[in-house]
Formats: sequence, structure tokens, C-alpha cells
Amino acid sequence: MTTPIDQAFVHDTFPEPVMPACSVQKLLRGQTAIVTGASSGIGKAIAIALGHAGADVVVNYVSGPEDAEAVAKEVGSCGSRVMTIRADISKEDEVQAMFAQVIREWGTVDILVNNAGIQKDAPFHELTLAQWQRVIDVNLTGQFLCAREAVREFKRRGVRKEISCAAGKIICISSVHEVIPWAGHVNYAASKGGVMLMMKSIAQEVAPWRIRVNSIGPGAIRTPINTEAWGTRSHYESLLKLIPYKRIGEPDEIGRAAVWLASDESDYITGTTLFVDGGMTLYPGFETGG
Ligand code: BGC
Repeated sequence: MTTPIDQAFVHDTFPEPVMPACSVQKLLRGQTAIVTGASSGIGKAIAIALGHAGADVVVNYVSGPEDAEAVAKEVGSCGSRVMTIRADISKEDEVQAMFAQVIREWGTVDILVNNAGIQKDAPFHELTLAQWQRVIDVNLTGQFLCAREAVREFKRRGVRKEISCAAGKIICISSVHEVIPWAGHVNYAASKGGVMLMMKSIAQEVAPWRIRVNSIGPGAIRTPINTEAWGTRSHYESLLKLIPYKRIGEPDEIGRAAVWLASDESDYITGTTLFVDGGMTLYPGFETGG
């Protein structure tokens, strides 16, 4: 049975890790980043973290312009330039128009965070073609379309040593479900499994141009997409059985991983997934069995 959301319980149990308001070390100074799906959840946290690390940030969104504007305000609070662009990343013409606008107005793009993603869950035998297709369109095709435009721009421009060792960085926001099968979420898991090999194959192909491509694989993060999993005490308790580290993750924690992966601190890393999941991918069922 679903009880009313007991958010206070979750907050009291695990205080949110605090991100310094404006990073002293501006790891991404002088770089331009596009974050897709940045008006809420993980995308919002990434946009703010990149902005606070000195990057100029494009807050891409598909609906809810007010939310995107609110994120933009926070991104800009440490002095970064920021713009909001509405574009459905599953549509080729809208993706191309977004990149063209950013290049026209800001000269180039240095970082793409392929974050926009959706879930449309159903038992497999009831999964409709429309539910399957929409999730694949946004989570996989959308990442392909944005990555392709980014690579075109990175190759055109090449490396500017004073800005970054790399000609460009792409970070795909994947999921623990790129490796963990997920009953009832077949379309979502298939899209994330696809993101994994797409990311690795692009990384292999573009490495000679000094373009780095990596993924972040979040586990359970406290965002609107999975309120169901953490919003009540009983759901939260069953969620913890899947997390050896025994707490839910916070969006900021993905933001900080994204800053690092986008920075020259991680210059020798390409083609890999960084799981930020409190150990969810460690087969927690084997803690006591096997
Ligand atoms: C999903 C969440 C889920 C988490 C762990 C994420 O990719 O979007 O809904 O809670 O994986 O299962």
C-alpha cells in the first residue's frame, strides 16, 4: 500500500551532501557545455555543478520553461553565462538547430552532457510499441543525435590547448541498468544497454581526434523520475536492500562526477562508465548468500 510521501524521513535519515556554492577551483573555466534535459533532476544538478565549476551552460529542456529559467538563474549565480534552449532531442532538426544556435552565439561547444531520459514502465506483455519507441527515441536516438552534432563541432574546431587537453568531451548519462536487467522496465534497460555500446563505439572511433566519450551510471538518485522508489518509508527500506552503501544518492553527487569527467583531471579516461550507485552494481543479493 502506498502511504503519503514521507520526505522528511528520508531527509532526516541522510542529510544531503552539500556542494560548495561556487567551486573555488574553476576546473571548466572558458568552456561551453550543453546539458540536455536540464530543467529538473540529475540534469539540473549537472547544469548547476558545471556552471559553478566555471563553464558557460546551455540548459536544454523540452517542457516547463519556468523550471529551465529557474535552473538558469542558479547556474548564472557564480558568474557563468547561461542560455535556455527548448529542443526535443529525439528530433534531428531540433538538435541541429540547438547546436547551430550555441555555435552562432558562443562560438563553439566543448562539453556535451547527454542527460535527457524518460521511463515508460509496463509489464513486458503489456508494453506497447508506442512506449517502447518513445523511450528508445529519447534515451538512445536522442543521445546519438546530440553526440553526432558535438563530434562534428569538436572535429571542426580541434584542440585549443589553453582551454583543454581534449578537443571535446561527451558524457552520456546512462544507468546501473546498462548492466542490471530490469523486469517491468524492458524498454528502459534496453535503451541504457544501447547507450553503453554506443558510447564505447563512439569513444573508440573519435579518440584519435582527442575527443573523450564516457558515461555516468547513476544508481538510485533522489529525483522525480523515481519518487516511487524512495517516497515512502516502506519503499525506501526495500530500496536500501539494493544499495550496499545504505543510502539513496543525491543529484549533486552526479553533478560532481560530471565536472570531473568533463575536466582535464580525467584526461586519460575514455570509453568507460563511472557508476555512481552506492554499490548497486555489486550484486547486493550476494552480501550474505552464494
Ligand atoms: C532509474 C531509477 C531507478 C534506478 C535504480 C535509474 O536508472 O531511472 O528509476 O531507481 O535506476 O534502479
